[in-house]
Amino acid sequence: MAIKNVGVIGCGLMGSGIVQVAAQAGYSVLFVEASDELVTRGLGRLRDTLEGLVARGKLDARAKDDTLGRIAGTPRLEDLKASDLVIEAMTENQALKNETFAKLDRICPAHTLLASNTSSCNVTALAAATRRPGQVVGMHFFNPVPLMKLVEVVRTILTDEAAARAATEFVRAVGKVPVQAKDATAFIVNRLLVPYLLDAIRVYEGGLASLEDIDQAMKLGCGYPMGPFTLLDLVGLDTTMYVAEVMFEEFREARYAPPPLLKRMVMAGRLGRKTGRGFYTYDAK
Ligand code: 3HC
Repeated sequence: MAIKNVGVIGCGLMGSGIVQVAAQAGYSVLFVEASDELVTRGLGRLRDTLEGLVARGKLDARAKDDTLGRIAGTPRLEDLKASDLVIEAMTENQALKNETFAKLDRICPAHTLLASNTSSCNVTALAAATRRPGQVVGMHFFNPVPLMKLVEVVRTILTDEAAARAATEFVRAVGKVPVQAKDATAFIVNRLLVPYLLDAIRVYEGGLASLEDIDQAMKLGCGYPMGPFTLLDLVGLDTTMYVAEVMFEEFREARYAPPPLLKRMVMAGRLGRKTGRGFYTYDAK
């Protein structure tokens, strides 16, 4: 299966990173956002990111222009009809994703591979919402997408081998390292990472140490690139809570239950870097 045209649904935190890496790897990328205004904002964010890389000497101006020339945005899902691969990167909402996959199945030609960047939704349910369940996979990127090397390629019991292979080749072609996982809630990374992040909140809530000292301890004591609270703010507290809730629902184990402080921070709108305040406060830049 030759992939040339890539569709990406959503141009938020994850979607814009996926658009960037696919366009930088030479693919023609069309992203879908909910309105003209969000399309313009998505294009602006991509332009700013690439111009920032040029300013820091990480990318030459020609490569930036070529990359931007391969990116377009639209508010219409129907415009994905020429895509060979569609990667859905909307917010984590199973019902909305199921509905979107059913629509994509009607819009896209028979050969199109349908992938979801979901971290916690059920990929089998997405496959079952289409008439091409063999061509539906999970393709889970990590935040920040341009910097994180890993992508989990997720196959359901319905996925065709050729589709999983094409997805894996695409992951390599955009410069990432694929690992293979089954469709079981949270796959590999989040299955191990989320309980660790929730435990960090619990020990902080229990008064063991300050945020800063817990972060410093895990960074310097374990060689992790960031401490758990810096990482929670990066990933988003709402996203973490949603993933934890889905994991708790699936496994019914107390270690996956979102701690009270996490729930309250989300209620209070302290979602992390994206809202300027989570466990830490961030300035507008
Ligand atoms: N495109 C390309 N390059 C970029 C870029 C972009 N959009 N943005 C920044 N860069 C470049 C910078 O120019 C810089 O280059 P240089 O080192 O040559 O100067 C380089 O990338 C690194 O930038 P930073 O100085 O900001 O990076 P750090 O060295 O501080 O590392 C980090 C940042 C990679 C985020 C590191 O702290 C890290 O690995 N943190 C852990 C992140 C993590 O665990 N993510 C997974 C979260 S879980 C998840 O996503 C799953 C989800 O489902 C919940």
